[in-house]
Amino acid sequence: MKVSNRKRVLVTGGAGFLGSHLCERMLNDGNDVLCVDNFYSGTKDNIAHLMGNPYFELMRHDVCFPLHVEVDEIYNLACPASPVHYQSDPIQTTKTSVLGAMNMLGLAKRNKAKILQASTSEVYGDPEVHPQKESYWGHVNTIGIRSCYDEGKRCAETLFFDYKRQHDVDIKVVRIFNTYGSRMHPNDGRVVSNFIVQALRGEDITIYGDGSQTRSFCFADDLIEGFVRMMASDKGVTGPINIGNPGEFTMIELAQAILKQVGGQSKLVFKPLPQDDPKQRRPDITLAKHHLNWEPKINLDAGLEKTIAYFKKFLAL
Ligand SMILES: NC(=O)c1ccc[n+]([C@@H]2O[C@H](COP(=O)([O-])OP(=O)(O)OC[C@H]3O[C@@H](n4cnc5c(N)ncnc54)[C@H](O)[C@@H]3O)[C@@H](O)[C@H]2O)c1
Repeated sequence: MKVSNRKRVLVTGGAGFLGSHLCERMLNDGNDVLCVDNFYSGTKDNIAHLMGNPYFELMRHDVCFPLHVEVDEIYNLACPASPVHYQSDPIQTTKTSVLGAMNMLGLAKRNKAKILQASTSEVYGDPEVHPQKESYWGHVNTIGIRSCYDEGKRCAETLFFDYKRQHDVDIKVVRIFNTYGSRMHPNDGRVVSNFIVQALRGEDITIYGDGSQTRSFCFADDLIEGFVRMMASDKGVTGPINIGNPGEFTMIELAQAILKQVGGQSKLVFKPLPQDDPKQRRPDITLAKHHLNWEPKINLDAGLEKTIAYFKKFLAL
């Protein structure tokens, strides 16, 4: 039985990069927040500043195992997001996506709670259409080194829609495109943090391939606003909905934008492209604009400035 007016919000993966920003936003909005994490790729440092808040609770738990708590809303973010992390224990990655989704959907069903899935642009694989619309079914290798993540996330989406059809669970599925900001892991191989850390240390900047492959980069605050709007949307709005920044940059352009702000002598060095690395990525955000009245507000230079400031402090430079 619910006895407080505060919404009880569960954030799985709450000690990770995006999860920690979401926990912070949920507390600022006056909610009672339960952060669940097994610290596979997240850290207590990301949420240490929230620990004194009486409406914040941290639970060490692996979502591959059932969880019995009373909650009103669930944001399911638990899953390592960077290739370095998700490929270091690929079986655990698939388990986290699939068993984690089943357990959290079961919890949502029992609580009659709304549940949002942090899905990914990786469900589109190496896309043959550009930009990617939600109606595109994707081009994914089932047996490659990225498959544990891509197929795990695809199966999780299937589970979300079957729980909707079979049990009328109130689901929300967002497909996140590359997002960056403070509290990214400094050396987990994600391109924005990689380039910034290398530039700040005065090291050469490593570009995989010839640097002409493109990505779009969304600043974390914009993304979290998209999550909140999605959760607040009408029951009929289930997604999947792309959340990302449609600005598209080559790896060389990104490196140059970072070097312009950091300065220094770093040179660009080129290494072979990893297996199955997508050549192009850009979200079509028509649905997010239409259903959520959402679009990103922070451009790449402004977002990089904040992120560089964070890493300067983090590396004590
Ligand atoms: N950051 C991005 O650009 C991006 C893009 C697409 C999708 N996503 C999705 O958003 C979510 C958050 O990503 P992130 O960038 O914050 O990654 P992250 O690795 O920083 O955070 C993931 C968190 O989940 C936790 N976790 C992993 N396995 C778990 C398990 N079995 N049980 C409990 N906790 C577990 C980790 O310890 C970590 O704190 C992920 O689901 C990811 O797939 C992120």
